[in-house]
Amino acid sequence: MIDQFITDVVEGLSKEQKTLPSKYFYDEKGDQLFVNIMNMPEYYLTNCEMEIFSDQSSALAQLIGHETSFDLIELGAGDGTKTVHLLRALQQSYDFTYKPIDISPFAIEGLLQKLSVELPELKTEGVAGDYFSALAKFKKINRPISILFMGSNIGNLTDDKAKKFIGDLSQSMKPGDKLLIGVDLKKDPSIILPAYNDAQGITRDFNMNLLDRINRELDADFNLEQFKHAPVYDEQMGEARSYLVSKSNQSVAIGKANKTFHFEEGERIHTETSRKYNAKLIRELTSDHGLTIFKQLTDSRGYFSDFILEKQNT
Ligand code: AVI
Repeated sequence: MIDQFITDVVEGLSKEQKTLPSKYFYDEKGDQLFVNIMNMPEYYLTNCEMEIFSDQSSALAQLIGHETSFDLIELGAGDGTKTVHLLRALQQSYDFTYKPIDISPFAIEGLLQKLSVELPELKTEGVAGDYFSALAKFKKINRPISILFMGSNIGNLTDDKAKKFIGDLSQSMKPGDKLLIGVDLKKDPSIILPAYNDAQGITRDFNMNLLDRINRELDADFNLEQFKHAPVYDEQMGEARSYLVSKSNQSVAIGKANKTFHFEEGERIHTETSRKYNAKLIRELTSDHGLTIFKQLTDSRGYFSDFILEKQNT
């Protein structure tokens, strides 16, 4: 784990365009900062998907449900605040088991505990682990599945990686199985950019935590005062990108890697891309994998969509 972290940091900072992988945002401090981000007024994504799940829950249940008993698998379930609306609606007419998968056993434990109080009748089976080993197990069970992948988490992958990820998911699906993907939509930059550059500076702290984490875990000496959070929204590409910009010419030593990196004044480290989508893009990412969009549900402001796809006979 730590060796992989060292390798990824050294590889990223050795590139012409310096980069650090966004997956390293999520240590204990980063997880908490991300919860704070989801509660900020500027970060509309969470509220929009919440609105879809609460206001359109019966339509969603009909799209996600199967005629016979099935498994509802959620990837990266988190605290389930949005999903609970769908679970409640499904319980009225369908026989299913809810199977959340999360890398963190604590997240799964907390979620199942909460659901046992809120929805005591719900059948659950939580899995702590990586998505694909968990899905491989479900593939062996011969009953229909519906997979949820919400929160525009797909948007933190490059299009190539997203396509591969969806291809791998599709491998775990049988004809008739369903996949819901929640994505942030392309829209006016004046709405998107503040979501990544909030007034309180929470997203700045989230971005900076990456350097702080490298200091703490890899014995580095980044001076956080000498970097600034600088997000941009590239409307042409439909990408919000976060950078950390060096405020001066400086060198940073990374003790555990035995390396020193130089930063020019104004030089940027790319830390995250958050892709924005439309139906055409979702079709491009999914159609080669035998998945067809059969419904797109959108919030009342038209900011965010949940696409429901079905696996076709191949
Ligand atoms: C987790 N992911 C979908 C978030 C996003 O919008 O790309 C992560 C995030 N980064 C900054 N703010 C939120």
